[in-house]
Amino acid sequence: ALVSSTSMLEAARAGGFCVGAFNVHTLEMLQAVVEAAEETNSPLILQSTVGTVKHLGPDYIAAAATVAANRSSVPIALHLDHCTDFNVIMQCIRAGYTSVMIDASHDPFDQNVALTRKVVEAANAVGINVEAELGRVGGVEDDIVVDERDALLADPDECARFVELTGVHTLAPAIGTAHGIYKGEPNIDFDRIGRIAEKVAVPLVLHGGSGIPEAQVKRAVSLGMAKMNVATELRIVFSDAIKDVFAANPAENDPRKYMVPAKDALRAAAIEKMRLCGAIGRA
Ligand code: 13P
Ligand code: ZN
Ligand code: NA
Repeated sequence: ALVSSTSMLEAARAGGFCVGAFNVHTLEMLQAVVEAAEETNSPLILQSTVGTVKHLGPDYIAAAATVAANRSSVPIALHLDHCTDFNVIMQCIRAGYTSVMIDASHDPFDQNVALTRKVVEAANAVGINVEAELGRVGGVEDDIVVDERDALLADPDECARFVELTGVHTLAPAIGTAHGIYKGEPNIDFDRIGRIAEKVAVPLVLHGGSGIPEAQVKRAVSLGMAKMNVATELRIVFSDAIKDVFAANPAENDPRKYMVPAKDALRAAAIEKMRLCGAIGRA
């Protein structure tokens, strides 16, 4: 069965590694990431965004993830990524998700607390994990001025207060990473990660995992990051492999053929991220 991500992530934080959380959009992507976890004996969090929930249906996603978990030798959780809508969260919990993110980071602090608390109460009733965000993970530009950048990043005291007020199981504090591929290297505030980790005992989540260099991932993990989200790179690797098939053979029309190199490429990319996370052999 699918497991809650809470115990997986608590073990990761205590053990000084992090669990890879991979956004998947098709059955083949889900299978590739599961195979990567099994091949390397790594714990796994499968994720879908709200867009993918609307594209495939939460029941289809949960059904495929449940089959994977039932067959698997490694623990697998199914997580809803960046959701702002309480009703979608309830639909996913009902469908069988074992972890959800309520992202009210664009709301004022008190509203973020109130909505997160409401989700935590519902999740606790069924024993699943909740992740929330403080500050803003975003398209932070390299030339942004310090004051603006500072305002976007999570404040350590506010993080401590937030966790205490909400009872949230895992926290994603904005610390300078961004979604998508970076122009150059990300500008991560490592000192801030350390100060947050000193005040917050719950596992911390690193968003924007695509494009973070190995040394920076390792440093963030050593400071308390216990989950790393990866989306964009996996989508690109998967799609590029399909493009290569059609470039070489424009007449190809069998998904059972053109999906195979895409699966292989995605499996390899996921294994590489599991290695950066230090998750290999930790299942
Ligand atoms: P990337 O697209 O940069 O990998 O970020 C993923 C993410 O944070 C999903 O929540
Ligand atoms: Zn994210
Ligand atoms: Na990124």
